[in-house]
Amino acid sequence: MTAQSSRTAEIRHRAKSRDGTAEALLKDLLRDLFQVDASNVKINHDQYSLNSLNGFFDTEDGEFFFKFHQEEGEEVMSGEYYRADILAKAGLPVDQPVLMSVLPGEQILVYRRRRDPRFSDVLRELDLSDDPRRRAMAVAAERKLNHEVLDVYLETLHPITPDQAAAEPVNRLFFERLIDPATGAFPGGRFKSFYVDREFAFPGASLSWDEFSNTRFRINGVEYAETVGDLFVASHARIDPRRLADAGGVTAHGDAHNANVWFSESGDAASLSFFDPAFAGEHVPTLLAEVKTTFHNVLAHPLWLYDPAVAAEIYDAKAELSGGVLDVTTNWTPSPVRKDLLGVKAADMWKLLLKALDDRGILPDDWRRVVKLSLFLCPTLVMNLRAGATFHNPTSSLIGFSLAVMAGSEPVAGTDFLTEFFDAIDPRAGA
Ligand SMILES: Nc1ncnc2c1ncn2[C@@H]1O[C@H](COP(=O)(O)OP(=O)(O)O)[C@@H](O)[C@H]1O
Ligand SMILES: [Mg+2]
Repeated sequence: MTAQSSRTAEIRHRAKSRDGTAEALLKDLLRDLFQVDASNVKINHDQYSLNSLNGFFDTEDGEFFFKFHQEEGEEVMSGEYYRADILAKAGLPVDQPVLMSVLPGEQILVYRRRRDPRFSDVLRELDLSDDPRRRAMAVAAERKLNHEVLDVYLETLHPITPDQAAAEPVNRLFFERLIDPATGAFPGGRFKSFYVDREFAFPGASLSWDEFSNTRFRINGVEYAETVGDLFVASHARIDPRRLADAGGVTAHGDAHNANVWFSESGDAASLSFFDPAFAGEHVPTLLAEVKTTFHNVLAHPLWLYDPAVAAEIYDAKAELSGGVLDVTTNWTPSPVRKDLLGVKAADMWKLLLKALDDRGILPDDWRRVVKLSLFLCPTLVMNLRAGATFHNPTSSLIGFSLAVMAGSEPVAGTDFLTEFFDAIDPRAGA
């Protein structure tokens, strides 16, 4: 299939000119595929993704959202359809497509249009200006969602084989970003292209990859045992999909960061539901299931991961290379709503999930290591954290790598808010 003969590729191409021709072609495509008469076809231009295109249209049945990806032969769209179905059948709240085409070059998914905000939008407002009443509503919604999700985990928890673990798409968010996709070579993938042999610029210190990857961090006086280089090597060894079968598998969304979660308000309460389940599965390695939500909904905020320019205005961070240690001082701290969300993740999800694994005799002794290394891979491989590479600046880059190290490594001595989190969820603590 060449680009010329693919109708979705042609629409993508024309969308760039913004002259209405893409919308007209889309209207024809919708009529041919689904026999619908679409009006008000609108393509969204405010998106970061280079590989997908989405927008809205109306019919006499109401308002709709469409999306399509351009890569052919990957069955991306049917995959998302199938994965939404897995979650819905397990009883999770998730949007399901109402129309789908999997024809080559004409792959498109259609959902009912939502007018709700994403949970990420609601929380960002609370980061910028706390409102205890609205915060309580958000936290209660999060608690309810965690109970629903935990119920599904406990019901679906089952032994999985290394082959099943390795076949789960969720690995594309973790291990597969460390290796070359064709050869499996390490370092490869995003890890190599983002960081290896590059320069790292922070306020007060600039380092080569060799220096940076071998230098320990001391963050606000607490020194960490492992370097960024150590953590990538350890992740490659332990977050290998075939080694993740040891804690069983569950039915999970896997990528339920809050920009894939709707916030539906009614009266004094709100409820949350999932969309965009591209990485969901039935045999998601249990210890990976909640990692993305824990990092992206809590530790990535306020602001530093997704709004680095704003973070640099609000927070200070500086670094000094002294005695072979990168000494970091920063006033970044989680906002009240993020602290509350971490508390919910600890008490209403992780503690109970880990206890269930322990009760069933499948909690690996190194569970804490597995979770910490997986958390470490979230910010480092979701986007390039180096200042100047894309959106990051020296301040947001330093805050980002500091959070990554706190997530991945244990302190040499002393504690931080993450060691407290891990101690609180440890089902064998005090045993
Ligand atoms: N059903 C919908 N109604 C209205 N807007 C939607 C709908 N689904 C997604 N969107 C918007 O489009 C954006 C991208 O959609 P998403 O399914 O998350 O695709 P991607 O694969 O690009 O992450 C979402 O962040 C949301 O703002
Ligand atoms: Mg999404």
